[in-house]
Amino acid sequence: MKQSTDFKKMKENKEPIVMLTAYDFPSAKHAEEANVDMILVGDSLGMVVLGYDSTIPVTVDDMVHHTKAVKRGAKQTFIVTDMPFMSYHISMEDTLRNATRIIQEAGAHAVKVEGGNDVIQVIQRLTESGIPVVAHLGLTPQAVGVLGGYKVQGKDIESAKKLIEDAKQCEAAGAIGLVLECVPRQLAEVITEQLMIPIIGIGAGNQTDGQVLVYHDVISYGVGRVPKFVKQFTSVNEQIQSGLKQYVAEVKSLEFPSEEHTFTMKDNQLSSLYG
Ligand code: KIV
Ligand code: NA
Repeated sequence: MKQSTDFKKMKENKEPIVMLTAYDFPSAKHAEEANVDMILVGDSLGMVVLGYDSTIPVTVDDMVHHTKAVKRGAKQTFIVTDMPFMSYHISMEDTLRNATRIIQEAGAHAVKVEGGNDVIQVIQRLTESGIPVVAHLGLTPQAVGVLGGYKVQGKDIESAKKLIEDAKQCEAAGAIGLVLECVPRQLAEVITEQLMIPIIGIGAGNQTDGQVLVYHDVISYGVGRVPKFVKQFTSVNEQIQSGLKQYVAEVKSLEFPSEEHTFTMKDNQLSSLYG
């Protein structure tokens, strides 16, 4: 299994790092079989798996539950789990308790937290406690209410400089990596160059050290419209619908189950059944 030091080496060797989200046993198995470098149990599960319209309702219990399933499906892959909304803001004690559950009870190898200077202390404290932390800057979906929607971040010089500063602070606080979401590729390139830790982009162009996408987006599974930065590499929606419609049709037409899918008993035992 790759470790955080391996990801740093991959950056040095300019070998792109592939991260993919997974939320349950089958998606984790798929991700590991596809040889992704690391799995993210993202709080995006609130939207793509649980049907909420943001990541805000996701709880620590949800993250623990799903991480456990991912662990069972991907025993050989580095797993990062999102700390959900407000699970690392109320107090340091609460933060440490929540992160401990995600690492110790659920088995994640690292946690991810959104935000810049406001979570620097959190990154530092968790790192000192032995919990590896991945930072997340740019579009931080847990702050959607403050950001006023899902928009590209760091487009003007002021906010771009702030992002670079935040990224450096995350690194100095001990973050093992940084997810950079929805920023102009030029800004992502500067941050990637100026930091030693791997920068994993999503909607951040092709000059970052790696990429991350949401499992359901990559295979077009249960999702409709997707953001500009998503490429749908295949679409299973149609296959699923055609399979399910055929099941319904064949039960209605008595075509299923045929002899092939049916158990039988010997004829001479039959008479006693009818009394
Ligand atoms: O929750 C998630 O899936 C994420 C990625 C989009 C980076 O945080
Ligand atoms: Na997330």
